[in-house]
Amino acid sequence: SRLMSFLREMPKAELHIHIEGSLEPELIFALAERNGMRLVYPDVQTLKAGYAFKDLQSFLDIYYAGASVLRTAQDFEDMAWAYFLRAKADGVVRTELFFDPQTHTSRGVPLKACFAGLREACRRARTKLGISADLILCFLRHLSEEDAMSTLDDALAFRNDFIGIGLDSSEKGNPPEKFARVYARCRELGLRLVAHAGEEGPADYIESALDVLKVERIDHGVQSIHSPALMLRLSQTKIPLTVCPLSNVKLCVFRDLADHPLAQMLDAGLCVTINSDDPAYFGGYLLDNYVQTFRALNLGMEHAYQLARNSLLASFASDSDKQHWI
Ligand code: ADE
Ligand code: ZN
Repeated sequence: SRLMSFLREMPKAELHIHIEGSLEPELIFALAERNGMRLVYPDVQTLKAGYAFKDLQSFLDIYYAGASVLRTAQDFEDMAWAYFLRAKADGVVRTELFFDPQTHTSRGVPLKACFAGLREACRRARTKLGISADLILCFLRHLSEEDAMSTLDDALAFRNDFIGIGLDSSEKGNPPEKFARVYARCRELGLRLVAHAGEEGPADYIESALDVLKVERIDHGVQSIHSPALMLRLSQTKIPLTVCPLSNVKLCVFRDLADHPLAQMLDAGLCVTINSDDPAYFGGYLLDNYVQTFRALNLGMEHAYQLARNSLLASFASDSDKQHWI
């Protein structure tokens, strides 16, 4: 239909994609073989059968196991390149990739391998696909702030290879306040600041991400629907929220897409964007997220235009690039 082609063809940004979450089961097995590793799963089907999650933690356990096959710069480049091809097919013109260095350095993979591979894939995305791509380094919130701080120290050797920092992994019990000092330091360094908040954790965590960490965007933020005061604040400040509808359903944040509050949030004037989060695990890339959400919530052309525009405005691309796309 006209709406479906519009969803594909309209220029849009993807602002919430964990590149390790784009690792397809087939590529997990290919990389394991290339690196001479044996997985605990005998084959692709058995691995895929494990993709039935009851909450964020049950997903994270499998996601970190999948990421364990990444060892060399070439592995990171191949993973990101496969994502860029999908993004191109979905009409993505700008993407800001999250990656989790601590997941790799803790296994003895040098930070240099992550950066070299991802940097090269981003460069090829620009030159060969016309996609503007940058990296956002995420700290794992289940680890200590000291661990985040020393990861930052090491990453500063690659300061020109990433534009900002984020905060991901297990949300409950790991409030934004735990990372106040590392965010203050990143702010002084001129890095862009985002954080996951209000995915499974309370609306309070969204407020402290804004007030204590001083983030410029909130990743997820769907628990804001439980706080009218916060909804008002978000509508007035237009702080962007990178919402991930298929992820929220797969991780049982909402029962199904028809119950998702995205339309309610848009109607309340929030700067909502649609994103895929971990597409290889949640059953769809960016366009799948748009199409399935539009079907379930009966959204139309006006919503499509608004969501694409929000995504480009909320991106950390240059003003001239934004003007060019919008
Ligand atoms: N890491 C990868 N995906 C994530 C998510 N949806 N929430 C928190 N951490 C993550
Ligand atoms: Zn995420």
